Amino acid sequence: MLKKEQNELVTQTGPGAPMGAVFRRFWMPALLSEQLPGPDCDPVRLELFSEKMVAFRDTAGHLGLIDEFCAHRGVSLWFGRNEEMGLRCPYHGWKFNVKGECVDVPSEPNSGFCDRIKLKSYPMIERGGVIWVYMGPPEHKPPLPEYEFATVPLSQSYISKRHQECNWLQALEGGIDSSHVSFLHSGSLNRDPLFKGAKGNQYNLSDLSPVFDVSESDGGLFVGARRNAEDDQYYWRITPWLMPNYTVVPPRGDHPVHGHFWVPINDENCWAWSFDYHPTRDLTHDERQAMIGGASVHVKVDENYRPLQRKENNYMMDRAAQKEGIYYSGIEGIGIQDASLQESMGPIQDRTKENLVSTDNGIIMTRQRLMKAAKALAENPNFQLPGLDPEHQKVRSAAVLLKRGLAFKDAAKDALKAAPGKPHSSV
Ligand code: FES
Ligand SMILES: [Fe+2]
Repeated sequence: MLKKEQNELVTQTGPGAPMGAVFRRFWMPALLSEQLPGPDCDPVRLELFSEKMVAFRDTAGHLGLIDEFCAHRGVSLWFGRNEEMGLRCPYHGWKFNVKGECVDVPSEPNSGFCDRIKLKSYPMIERGGVIWVYMGPPEHKPPLPEYEFATVPLSQSYISKRHQECNWLQALEGGIDSSHVSFLHSGSLNRDPLFKGAKGNQYNLSDLSPVFDVSESDGGLFVGARRNAEDDQYYWRITPWLMPNYTVVPPRGDHPVHGHFWVPINDENCWAWSFDYHPTRDLTHDERQAMIGGASVHVKVDENYRPLQRKENNYMMDRAAQKEGIYYSGIEGIGIQDASLQESMGPIQDRTKENLVSTDNGIIMTRQRLMKAAKALAENPNFQLPGLDPEHQKVRSAAVLLKRGLAFKDAAKDALKAAPGKPHSSV
């Protein structure tokens, strides 16, 4: 349970909010590369951390993210003409480059007027099929992101994004809460093509009371959940969380590994970024097609990346499937099973009214670390946030059988380190 002001601290990410300042120190996924496919392509509206912006790629292929609204009289530059190294406002023709600099005011030629006009802008880079943005102070710009899913060859990964109608934190909290899998996703474990067949599924389905053990990592936490297995062993599922919003779900058999970034759009909406990657092999044709079709953590979306199953159609819930246990909640698809329940908590969950239990330990510790980091950064702008060092980012999830009595953080230490070409540890 949180106090009202604590809940506000961890959920608010707009300009000036302490948690917003934390997020702005990281490279964050902003767009899929497919959204800005080539020079002078259509611009894209993009709201992040309650700032409304427009992204575009200029004639030379440079990426830019600038204030959505024209410096003249506030027209949305989404209507702009992307031409000859800049975005031109269609109202009176003012033109801006990828750095937000005004490069032409046709009504005031040769006056030098436009040199004094600049829109807010943020740097973007492209890596692993994702366009990333840095929205923090220029002097604190960190090295490029090294999350494993973004560094493997594109043939080994599949990345999708979907709009989720709730605050980023309740989505993240679903990502580190391994205990709901045995309930909410129970119908899908042996049905989803990217989950089924793994031996680990049986431990998930036969032990509904996992014991949580959470340990600190350099960049965040390892949330371990252990379930009973045969021969004096435990089945451990270990989920890394990295400051502030990155999680990797433990793998199953030889299936790809999946995980998420939960990126705030504003305080009541977020982008759920979902990725699948295999550390040592290409995804097969069938795997990729299944993901495109909404399997694993992916979801079928419309042209605006809004899920086809969504609040306004009750997520296409099937009460008969719920009764029969085909889908535990009656909703098809692992990603939407999560999103539907997280959205049902309201736009921002009121954490003053919850009742946490021991399986929520990962969530409790994550909140504590987030609050600590937000306060430390607010007091000292030079505070070194956990998770910013690229070495911190080289973690991966694991699903392992360990002898009872062993601590996972020692016994599975090597399995939790990402390295190119290294097989994942999976049951
Ligand atoms: S409002 Fe954009 S040029 Fe006038
Ligand atoms: Fe889930």
